Amino acid sequence: MKTYRLARRLAQLEPSATSAMNARVQQLRAEGIKVISFSVGEPDFDTPTPIKAAAIDALNKNLTHYTPAGGIAELRKAIAARVSADQGLAYTANQITVTTGAKEGLYLAFQALCDDGDEAIIPAPYWVSYIEQAKLAGATPVTPMTSEATGFRITPEQLRAALTPRTKIIVLNSPSNPTGAVYSAAELRALADVLLESEAIIITDEIYDAISYVEYARWLHVAPELAERTLIVNGASKAYAMTGWRVGYVAGPQPIVTAIKDIQSHTSTHTASIAQYAALVAYTPSDELDQTVRDMAAAFHRRRDLILELLAEIPGVTCAVPDGAFYVFPNVADLLGRPLKNGAVCATSDELNNYLLDQAHIACVGGESFGAPGYIRLSYATSEADIIEGMRRFRDSLG
Ligand SMILES: Cc1ncc(COP(=O)(O)O)c(C=O)c1O
Repeated sequence: MKTYRLARRLAQLEPSATSAMNARVQQLRAEGIKVISFSVGEPDFDTPTPIKAAAIDALNKNLTHYTPAGGIAELRKAIAARVSADQGLAYTANQITVTTGAKEGLYLAFQALCDDGDEAIIPAPYWVSYIEQAKLAGATPVTPMTSEATGFRITPEQLRAALTPRTKIIVLNSPSNPTGAVYSAAELRALADVLLESEAIIITDEIYDAISYVEYARWLHVAPELAERTLIVNGASKAYAMTGWRVGYVAGPQPIVTAIKDIQSHTSTHTASIAQYAALVAYTPSDELDQTVRDMAAAFHRRRDLILELLAEIPGVTCAVPDGAFYVFPNVADLLGRPLKNGAVCATSDELNNYLLDQAHIACVGGESFGAPGYIRLSYATSEADIIEGMRRFRDSLG
């Protein structure tokens, strides 16, 4: 096949391990094998009916034309009201830009803020796109490794040690993908005290805020004095089961949000008009929708308890209790480097992951993808029946 000289910045780009795993799962399924997937990071629920109805209505009204860059005014206004209520601080519509998923919001934030040689502190285990997005913006990721002992939460000492005069950004993600860790108010306050000594911009990725099994502490509630240096990233994907609609947002200081919109005006311009009208319903106060979101979170809570109970029965596997999102991040170090069923030996969690796919027909993601060898990530956004069957296969495959 012909080779092409691609842009140099792509030399460092790692392909997404989750996408590679999904491709293998599709291949096995095409061969007729019933694979149970714990690798996908999306709710298995349908988008709530009132949101779908708003999209159909928008289509019928022919609201299918370009919208302003950064989204329609009504949606930015509704999101500003939501953010103001969430954070306890006043946000206006011009401090909001609607993005093509939170993922694009994060990408644009890195692009708007980073120069070559800047550093971005991204505590590990991390959601891998932060790393690739930082690199694409010319920044160097700095990845302090948190430990299972501190519930995978970065400590003030670790944060202080990671800060340098080149630190441009620190990413906080609570609840976390992949660990499910949720920071308490006291923990966030201790981090804020350290950050007051720096000039870093804080990106708080709150995409899993609706799925917290403990009282959710919000960064700006705890550290309002850092609002002028904080970008809030969130979106409709996880809370409203709207992953495919691609609606996210960035809220923050107007000059940074305007810079992000300027880049948007030359790239995507805006997410699909229909998706914006649907999201307008999601972000308009409604007791009914609030209840739907709480019901989905309650289902995730039950599934978390179920998968933890079943993982505890698997010899060689231990698992910290995640307080939010829909992931468990078990420690599988004891399964590595020793014979499993049929004498197979897995040296790494990535290899174990392939073993589990081949032997147990369950799909997980190796901890390597999140900067944490020795762990695997399982998403329990799947049915209780699949969780029970999948964990049975996991246990049986080890011999
Ligand atoms: C931590 C985290 N942030 C952001 C996103 C992006 O979500 P979306 O682009 O669907 O809004 C995800 C999706 O998996 C995520 O896990």
